[in-house]
Order: sequence, then structure tokens, then C-alpha cells
Amino acid sequence: ELSEIKTYYEFILPKVLEAGKILLEAKNIKFKLKNNVDWDWVTEYDKKVESVLNKQIMEKYPGHCFIGEESQEDKIQLTDAPTWIIDPIDGTENFTRNLRLSCISVGMTINKIQVFGIAYNPFMDEMFTAIKGQGAYLNGERIFVTQQDDYTQSFFNYEIGMARVGEYFYNLYMFRLKHLIAKVMNIRSLGSSVLGLCYVACGRTDAYQCDGLHVWDAAAGTLIVREAGGYVIDPTGKEFDLLKPNFLATSTKALAEQLVAIEKEADKEMEKVT
Ligand code: IPD
Repeated sequence: ELSEIKTYYEFILPKVLEAGKILLEAKNIKFKLKNNVDWDWVTEYDKKVESVLNKQIMEKYPGHCFIGEESQEDKIQLTDAPTWIIDPIDGTENFTRNLRLSCISVGMTINKIQVFGIAYNPFMDEMFTAIKGQGAYLNGERIFVTQQDDYTQSFFNYEIGMARVGEYFYNLYMFRLKHLIAKVMNIRSLGSSVLGLCYVACGRTDAYQCDGLHVWDAAAGTLIVREAGGYVIDPTGKEFDLLKPNFLATSTKALAEQLVAIEKEADKEMEKVT
């Protein structure tokens, strides 16, 4: 029910704003690798933001579920209970480099449906928000995707960080970029999946794509894109799945279909050659 959703949203919004100060005040950021891989970073600030928000939520709503990037140990399952889904710093590597393209992301599901999303970049003081069915906002002003439906004119933010993970992804991106770079207007790779989604929502880019993500990378941002009039699918062309969130987010369905078709061509070529 909308009033219940708004109660949770209004409870957490000032707390996210406050937690933004932790990022702004961070000095001498020390970072380390997680999970025995050489591309996934964490800092003491990721843990601090998550524990501050977790504590406040659990004190107020002890019956709710909590999924957080830094505290998740078990297999992730969504239940029907109100579930807070938090990425304390999305764009951690940007954060360690003072790139100012990072945000705190808070989403909620009830009955497994995304009901609100908040993404706050304290460095630019930009607060992206959406409540299901109520539109998307940036600092309180309504935002909309572009109406771009022509790939030749599209500004495409494509995250290729997974290339480090192994040969499959390395080849995948080599072939996809080969096909895309001459066809779309331009490509960027900005390093924050949540902001990547928000930037499609507010029309700064026309498309965003990323693979190998987790529920906390997607819970807030995909709702924000949809509420801004955008389109989210799995890049294979299948329906987007919050629990296996690879995504292509675009301003229009037509643009998504065109980009998926170009990538399928690239994948076919890769299969022939590799
Ligand atoms: C990362 C960022 C990045 C994406 C990675 C994510 P994190 O999130 O969103 O853009 O390419 O796959 O893990 O780890 O900084 O919260």
C-alpha cells in the first residue's frame, strides 16, 4: 500500500543524506580486494555506511529483512516481507580514486516487488528517488529519459569491468565493442552501475549496460529508470530478473532492441572465431 511504502521511504531518506557525510569526510581511503578476486574492492567506508543504515533500520523495523553488499553471507532470497536492499557505496573503485562518481543505494521490495529506490551521490549532492507508480525525481524535480530510439544517435554507457574476470568476458567485450563503437554515437564506461541507471533516467545518457551484478546494484536504479519512462531488460533479450541482474537500460524499447541485435551479431562472430 502506498502509505506504508511512503512511511519507509520517508524514514530512510534523511538517513541516507546523513550517511553521505561519511563519504564526504573520508580521508586516506584504504582499500582492499574482496572474495579472492583481483577486481572487487572494499573500503572501511563501505562497511561503515552499511552498518550505520542497517542499525537504524533494524532498530525501527526489527521484523524486516536486510540485504547488504558488505554483510551478505547466505544465498540471496527474496521473501514477501519488506526487504531493504543496500549498496553502501556503489562505484567503490571510483571512490578510492576520488572520482566523485559513487553513490549510496537503497531499494526496497515488498512481496518481491520493487517499491522504492534511492540513490544519493554526496559529491554532487544529487539525490535520485522513485516510488513505484509515482515517477522518478532528481533533488525533488521530476526526471524523464530521452526519447532516443535510434542507435546511431545514442550515447551508451557500457561497463566493461568484467573483462578482468576471464577469457569469456574479455572476448565478449572485444567483439561487442568492435561492433558498437562505429555504430553508436559514443561510448562511456563510468564505473557505477547505480548511477549508470540514474543517468539514463535523467537523460544524461540513452543507454546503460553492465553484466555480473548483484541485487544491490539493481534494486534502486532499475526502478528509477522505469519510473522515468525507461526500459530495462536482460541484455540477452530476456526479461530482467532482479536476482540475476545483468541489465541493459535504455530510454526506449526500440533502442534496447537495436542494441541487443547489434550485440547478437557480435556474439555470433565471437562464437565463430573463438
Ligand atoms: C560495482 C560498480 C561497477 C560495476 C561492478 C560493481 P561496487 O559496484 O557498480 O560499475 O561494473 O560490477 O560491482 O562494487 O562498487 O558497489
